[in-house]
Amino acid sequence: MQVERMTPAEASEVLEQARRLGSGGLGNHNRVTVVETRRHGVAVVREPTPLANAKALQAPHRLLRMDPVVGTSRINQVLIADNVERTPGILWAGTPHAPTTIQTAVMRDGALAPTLAMLDCAADPRLRALVVEQFPHIAAQFDAVPLSAYPGGSPGPAAASSIAEFWDKYAKAVRDRTGLYTPEKYGSFQQACRQFGLGELELLVPPPGERATGFAEGRLAPAQLSGHSHNLVLGDGDRLWSIDEDRVIPAPLGFSVLTHIQNAHFVYRPDEVRLLLDGHLATVPRAERHAVAANEREGMRRVLGREAAAYLWHLNQLKTLRRSGQARPEAPAWSGDLARRLHESVNNVRVHVLGKRELAVGDVVERARAHLAGPSRQAKMIALANPRLAGEALRTPHAGWSAALKSGRSLPALRPPTADRSIRQEKGPALGEDWWR
Ligand SMILES: Nc1ncnc2c1ncn2[C@@H]1O[C@H](COP(=O)(O)OP(=O)(O)O)[C@@H](O)[C@H]1O
Ligand SMILES: [Mg+2]
Repeated sequence: MQVERMTPAEASEVLEQARRLGSGGLGNHNRVTVVETRRHGVAVVREPTPLANAKALQAPHRLLRMDPVVGTSRINQVLIADNVERTPGILWAGTPHAPTTIQTAVMRDGALAPTLAMLDCAADPRLRALVVEQFPHIAAQFDAVPLSAYPGGSPGPAAASSIAEFWDKYAKAVRDRTGLYTPEKYGSFQQACRQFGLGELELLVPPPGERATGFAEGRLAPAQLSGHSHNLVLGDGDRLWSIDEDRVIPAPLGFSVLTHIQNAHFVYRPDEVRLLLDGHLATVPRAERHAVAANEREGMRRVLGREAAAYLWHLNQLKTLRRSGQARPEAPAWSGDLARRLHESVNNVRVHVLGKRELAVGDVVERARAHLAGPSRQAKMIALANPRLAGEALRTPHAGWSAALKSGRSLPALRPPTADRSIRQEKGPALGEDWWR
């Protein structure tokens, strides 16, 4: 939404006011403070939180951040804000090194508009129908931004220059971040895939050397990578808005829709997916429609596959941490979050790629638990070398091996999770934080 910018004097007054108000609501990466301005109505001061970001870099939280994106093109909040109608306008923007912004606030009933996550979109058919109808139009607004609108007239050399190159880079990013194709990990990944009924890994992410083929060439446009239920808000008049445009990359048309399906934080029904895709296709100019439709099926497979690969990777990391005794006390909290997302990504692939039935949350959790508790050769070897502990250790094969061995007694259950705001608490399948014990 294009808006009149604030003058530097107005901006510093607003920033001062926000500072006086102290702690605003905290997002995952940004502190958001709502202020009343003289000329621009209600505004939002959005400031990156160094603490949250630093914390996010520490294990085990870091594991939740595996997010292969293509290229290095940084956030361009201004590009999107100025060109996409249903995003907050930028009233003032800081420098690339201090990217604080002052934005227009999306409001509902006189308060800051709630996110779909707050409204528990997953459980509300009316709200889901509303999103299915409106989201494709937001995606279409992203599609309509020409790449020449990037500063300097182009998104930069890291961006792909063709659809095939885009998907090659996408697959490479998944492989590089997960290490999926290193010989020592490949076997356990295949095992995890089979356990969740996802078949061979090749199905999800093409192996190295396999170039993307079969795509119809076409235009690339900026796409929203974070169109999930924490970044879609419902404003006055039941209007859906996209916020948090930090992660935007040049991608095939409709990529925002595919990533929304991937990371909505719930599993859409097949008919809803069809409506989202058809709704988007209807917005694509007739001359481009055939190519976009042809790419859709393969694009979906890759995008959903990437998500499942990411969460299976997390699961493997978790297994490694537990076996080495390095799991941190807060691990149960983030592993609960992991299990919820694993459930969604496994089902997204099963239902929308493989046409299989959805697994109940309990099934996924049981399979994850079995994966975590699987036989550990290393642990057994330690136990046998310490006959005094062998009985103890073998009775508690997944409860913190090295600590048990060191202390010579059985371990108490892991401490309850600390209240850590960097971990998203979501409504979703009911999962206790102790699911993995
Ligand atoms: N312009 C806005 N209008 C309404 N709500 C907003 C706006 N900006 C942020 N919010 C609220 O603040 C939360 C965090 O902001 P967001 O920009 O998503 O930061 P983060 O990068 O930390 O996720 C959002 O989930 C939303 O509830
Ligand atoms: Mg956000």
